[in-house]
Amino acid sequence: MANSRTVQFDSPEQTAIYAAKLAKNLAPEDIILLSGDVGAGKSYFCRALIQSVLQYEEDIPSPTFTLVQQYDTEIGELWHADLYRLSDPTEVIELGLLDAIESAIILIEWPDQITDFLPNSALNININTSDHETRVFRFSWTDKKWDEKLPGHE
Ligand SMILES: Nc1ncnc2c1ncn2[C@@H]1O[C@H](COP(=O)(O)OP(=O)(O)OP(=O)(O)O)[C@@H](O)[C@H]1O
Ligand SMILES: [Mg+2]
Repeated sequence: MANSRTVQFDSPEQTAIYAAKLAKNLAPEDIILLSGDVGAGKSYFCRALIQSVLQYEEDIPSPTFTLVQQYDTEIGELWHADLYRLSDPTEVIELGLLDAIESAIILIEWPDQITDFLPNSALNININTSDHETRVFRFSWTDKKWDEKLPGHE
């Protein structure tokens, strides 16, 4: 059965704090799929999450054109993908993204084209903009592991 939780963040800082808390609970084979309009905050959330677990200071470029970026982090190998410009779903095989699922933590923006190829253990995040700096995050999942991993938000 699907579970879901809705959390509101009233500033980018609140979003970043939550992303860092979630990062602490992640492990290889965890997949997070982020959906929402342009400018919703998908990349912002991913950057904050990655930043919080980097061992050394490092640029976190947008994967808009490279489609994927990889990081060695305190919580393991992490891949950040932005599939908005994916021309064909099978391209993710060439990118190595599907292989990485077995050994890395994966964050995917615009996952719609490849959801059929992904395990249903993923955490889904849908972001809605409700105001200038207010974002409503809807988390949904079927794999029970997320019951434990998803942090609370005071
Ligand atoms: N509460 C908030 N949480 C996250 N981002 C916020 C919040 N309030 C304002 N923002 C701003 O919203 C913008 C989100 O941009 P971002 O690039 O993350 O969007 P995106 O969903 O990745 O869009 P795209 O589909 O173009 O990749 C950032 O400029 C960020 O500072
Ligand atoms: Mg983005």
